[in-house]
Amino acid sequence: MVTEQVQFNPLAPGMLADPYPTYKALRDSRPVSWSPVMDAWILTRFADVDFVLTDPRFSADRRVARNRFAEMVRQRQQELGPFAQAQTMLSSDPPEHTRLRRLVSKAFTPRAVEDLRPRIQALVDHLLDLVQEQGETDIVLDLAYPLPVIVIAEMLGVPPADRDKFKHWSTMVVATLGGPFAAPGVLEKGRQAIEELAGYFAGIIQERRQSPQNDLISGLIAAEEQGQVLSEEEIFATAILLLVAGNETTTNLIGGSVITLLNHPEQLQALREEPGLIQPAVEELLRFSGPVHATGRVLKEDLEVGGQPMEAGQVAFCLLAAANRDPEKYADPERFDVRRNPADHLAFGDGTHFCLGAPLARAEAQIALGTLLRRFPRLALRAEPEWGGTFIIRGPKQVLLDVGK
Ligand code: HEM
Repeated sequence: MVTEQVQFNPLAPGMLADPYPTYKALRDSRPVSWSPVMDAWILTRFADVDFVLTDPRFSADRRVARNRFAEMVRQRQQELGPFAQAQTMLSSDPPEHTRLRRLVSKAFTPRAVEDLRPRIQALVDHLLDLVQEQGETDIVLDLAYPLPVIVIAEMLGVPPADRDKFKHWSTMVVATLGGPFAAPGVLEKGRQAIEELAGYFAGIIQERRQSPQNDLISGLIAAEEQGQVLSEEEIFATAILLLVAGNETTTNLIGGSVITLLNHPEQLQALREEPGLIQPAVEELLRFSGPVHATGRVLKEDLEVGGQPMEAGQVAFCLLAAANRDPEKYADPERFDVRRNPADHLAFGDGTHFCLGAPLARAEAQIALGTLLRRFPRLALRAEPEWGGTFIIRGPKQVLLDVGK
């Protein structure tokens, strides 16, 4: 009897609702496999994924790949217009990457983020006051969605009145990350959103050129790195990157974490009894149900990964969420344990592209979840949540809760 081999197909039914059984089956039977749908190598083991992310023989510039996917990425960028084509740190290699990242990195150091904690706490308190009055909530809509956009909007220097517009644009742009797998119409909406965002930022940049403020846009305008000033396209692209990279991800982390906690009542109870566990608990939430499931790299030369020969120009698609449940790395990896403290998980990637916003995302999640649990001792799911996003950034569309008034 021929048994059918498990394959990675992001479009397979049920993948968005629960991709973990497929990740496990792949890791157990074919840890390095070729996916015809993706036209790429699929990696699921912690050691292989970490190798690809930290070795300079892999490029983050997906446009140099020699597969049909890369051709679609190039086409998509053309369709999305000039601002989508500007290089950001996310898709560039050193030394270009170093220059672009250094310009904004100061704003995201653990120390800089420590200073933001009181402001984040005040925002969370305010958002949860509104929840308390209602007695029930969609915690995505009421907390997870507004919190990161308000924080990044304030950091960039976007006026409070424009936040809703800002969040809408961000959502539209993030939806295009599914690329060739995105639903029809998504690219067009993304193109429109980028155009509108660019127009919007053009106005802010002009204002800040005349009267600089203490915000990131002013910082970007003033930045001079090794004699080079950022081009206007790079300022747009960086601002859009921060928006896109930071919003959907943090929203999905907070929303997904509430579901994970409610599905593990004894772990939730442990965290309620010992609130000091919030820091390791958020690390475990990132490992167990983190929102970024995958990232890709292109081979610059022929080499082997996990014993599998690969060719220059091919794509190594790293399933971060699969690697985070590798039994070679973590004992009993399918068990959610708020005391595990898996500090070296791959939910934020690794190597030169390790998430710039990790300290901010951690602070927001710790404060949001810690405060939610402290203020509402009787949280309960009112309905089975529906999962959305893409196979790259996944999260619940809605999390309806009784908050026990
Ligand atoms: C839970 C929340 C978040 C998760 C899980 C997450 C995850 C990631 C991952 C996996 C990468 C690496 C991508 C790759 O190697 O191809 C990354 C990069 C990045 N993230 Fe995050 N992120 C989060 C929040 C944020 C926030 C709040 C910001 C900023 C406001 C941010 C900004 C960035 C930037 C700028 C990069 C590119 C870094 C580089 O290329 O050097 N992220 N993130």
